[in-house]
Formats: sequence, structure tokens, C-alpha cells
Amino acid sequence: MASWICSKINAGSANSPRVVELACGAGFLAEILERQLPNVRYCGFDLSPYLLEFARRRLEAIPGDQGNGNTMKYFCANLVKDDWTAHLVDMGWEGKVDAVVSIQALHDLGELPQQKQVLEQARSMLRKDGLLAYGDLLFDDQTPHPSRYTVEEHEEMLQLCGFTVSGGSSAKSVLGDSGLQDFATATFGDFGAFACRK
Ligand SMILES: C[S@@+](CC[C@H](N)C(=O)[O-])C[C@H]1O[C@@H](n2cnc3c(N)ncnc32)[C@H](O)[C@@H]1O
Repeated sequence: MASWICSKINAGSANSPRVVELACGAGFLAEILERQLPNVRYCGFDLSPYLLEFARRRLEAIPGDQGNGNTMKYFCANLVKDDWTAHLVDMGWEGKVDAVVSIQALHDLGELPQQKQVLEQARSMLRKDGLLAYGDLLFDDQTPHPSRYTVEEHEEMLQLCGFTVSGGSSAKSVLGDSGLQDFATATFGDFGAFACRK
């Protein structure tokens, strides 16, 4: 799924893409981004200072962090309660972010209203046609969870946030498809992945 997200960023035109990760945790997606996008400019946000410190130290050891001009920054913030976009505004990234990404984390932010709020804030930071690409656990009727949703519910939330969700279910692709579509979804076990544009 992380490679699927990278392929969607790669399919855009930016040479040195500005990428923001929501709830980056210990930086597992950040590591893949750094390895697969050598000139990435990255900002990761998470609630846990411990996980962020772990991410920072681990990724410092990757050679790309000292060369190639890529920059990896981490900010501790509660994405639901804090004005986290202020960090991006301070950096001059408002309206200039090429991609907002997240992996297996939206369900931890709360239910649909909280997830929608964070995605709307994220959208306001994206440039025109900027990419939102994320993967998260889908609703599973064997183990119902209040903040895990179906593919259709994710599509509806994205539409309500103002993202281009053209094609809908007919645009579904499989993991490994690296084409640039306005909207794509893929499933991987009980995970769903979504990519759409501002
Ligand atoms: C299941 S972990 C996934 C972490 C990371 N994306 C990964 O794949 O390894 C969920 C992450 O969400 C973070 N998190 C939970 N609620 C948050 C909030 N309100 N604001 C920011 N981060 C939050 C947790 O600290 C944790 O790192």
C-alpha cells in the first residue's frame, strides 16, 4: 500500500514534492517515501512525541537524509484539536503541498466528523490538483469498530470534503496500478486505499 501511495505521488509532476503525512507514527511510510522519492520534502505529524523521536532517529540513519536535498521534518500535534496547519503556513507551504498521505491511522483520529475535519484542513494546504492518498482499515462486520468505514463511506466523506471523486466505483484499481487517475481506490485484505485530487 505504501508503494501504491508513492506511485501516485510519482505520477504527479513535482521534481521535489512537498509531502505531508497525517499520523506518521514511527515513520514507516516516511522511510519508504524517502527511499522511493529521493528529493522529497516531507512533514510528518503525530500525537506521540516518542514515536516521532523514534522516526527522526531511525530516518537520520538513511543516507538520503544527508544528501539529495531531501528534508524530513516531524511535528508533534493532535490533528483533531490543535492548529497543526499553522506549522505548514509558517513554512510557506499553504496551498503548495503536492501530496497529503496517511497509512492505517485515520480510524485513530475519531469518527467521521473528526476524520472529515482533518481531511478538510489537509485539503486547504494542497495546491490545485494536489493529491490526497491514504490507506486505512475498512469496516469489517466480523469485528465492527466505530471509526472504520466501508469504501463507499470513504468515497462519500472525500466528496463532502471537496475532493474530486470522479468515476466512483468504476475507477477502482488494483494495488500495483501506478496510473495517474483523478480518483482511484484499491483494496488489500481489510485495508482500503484511496487517491483523489483537490
Ligand atoms: C496505528 S498507528 C499508525 C502509525 C503510522 N501511520 C504507521 O503506519 O506506522 C496510529 C497513529 O495515529 C496517531 N494518532 C492517534 N490520534 C491522533 C491525533 N488525534 N493526532 C495525531 N496523531 C494521532 C498515534 O500516535 C499513532 O502513531
